[in-house]
Amino acid sequence: MNRPAIKVALTAIAVMIVLQLVGGVLFLASGSYNIAADEPHLKPTRWLLQAGRTRAVEFRSRGMYVPNLRDPSLVKHGLRLYRKNCQPCHGGPGAANEQIGRGIDPKPPPLVIASNKWNDSELFWIISHGLKLSGMPGFAPRLSETDRWGIVAFLHRVVLLSPTDYKQLTTAEDLGVEDSSLPWISSNDYGFAQLKAQGNANRGRELIQTYGCTTCHTVAGLGAAAVGPPLTRFAERQYVAGSLVNVPSNAVAWITNPQQFKPKTAMPNLNVPPAEALDMIAYLYTSGSSERLTALERSSGIPKAKSTAKVNK
Ligand code: HEC
Ligand code: HEC
Repeated sequence: MNRPAIKVALTAIAVMIVLQLVGGVLFLASGSYNIAADEPHLKPTRWLLQAGRTRAVEFRSRGMYVPNLRDPSLVKHGLRLYRKNCQPCHGGPGAANEQIGRGIDPKPPPLVIASNKWNDSELFWIISHGLKLSGMPGFAPRLSETDRWGIVAFLHRVVLLSPTDYKQLTTAEDLGVEDSSLPWISSNDYGFAQLKAQGNANRGRELIQTYGCTTCHTVAGLGAAAVGPPLTRFAERQYVAGSLVNVPSNAVAWITNPQQFKPKTAMPNLNVPPAEALDMIAYLYTSGSSERLTALERSSGIPKAKSTAKVNK
């Protein structure tokens, strides 16, 4: 290309950029961009914001010092702050969000699931600074550092609380009860160790067919039926039968005898021995993303080797 041609091309590009900027400003000024908070972002906008957000939070929260989050008084402090500051928008186990949390888009997700995808320092960062271009406020101006870590400690705990457990803790908090037997922290491993050591997914797959579970349930790779809830993406489900936290020990207990939890449930007692139920769970847990289970395994039980205070990566 000769020089005048390059000059023309560059000028054309510059003019196009200016026109686009002017167009964008005019579009905004015209009022036709829908700024309404109760209208979802366009799909590509939402995707871009989410991807950028995850990277930004990871990057900015790196290397932060994390205090001991298994201190019962910190968890208790966190519960009080959670109910006041977060529950109105995010709800809690068995507790709906309030009116204020309903007109926002993107919707405030239930934190019993959403907090699993962030580690402790990332949660602390989000609570401190909020998330731009969404209704998630930053709390650093209002809550002390200890307060914010208290909320993180509680989020660690809440992912393993059933609606009944949550009610018990909130009631104790309301009444100012000092009872050391209350489950502020947990030293239960919820059957994760046994699942790892003994659960056999291949055998579970066969057993699910032998017992005829697929006559009532849609099971990934095995068949479709609509009497009971679909067991697809089962690893991502937070509650079993809407009442027990979905962890290996509870899921096994449900399959072996559903009536012990819900006397009137339509799921029959098929006299499945616990060892076979464990295999079935091993298979069902291959269905869906394992993110939730991995995070719960980390949150549960007796602190590993050193302490849970170390940043989980
Ligand atoms: C005014 C309503 C509101 C309040 C109050 C609020 N949030 Fe949020 N929060 C949101 C919204 C809306 C989002 C969704 C942002 C998105 O998906 O873009 C969100 C997102 C989050 C996320 C990220 C979830 C995800 O999908 O990864 C976390 C973690 C979170 N909030 C924690 C908290 C905590 C802890 C509190 C209390 C200290 C709190 N929020 C208070 C509205 C709120
Ligand atoms: C006759 C129909 C029927 C059969 C057979 C059956 N179920 Fe169910 N199952 C149900 C119903 C109905 C529910 C919903 C229970 C409720 O919420 O009260 C359920 C719930 C469940 C749940 C909890 C799902 C959730 O996320 O809430 C699991 C897990 C489950 N069944 C596994 C099994 C397995 C494994 C078998 C085979 C051993 C089986 N079911 C056989 C009807 C059946």
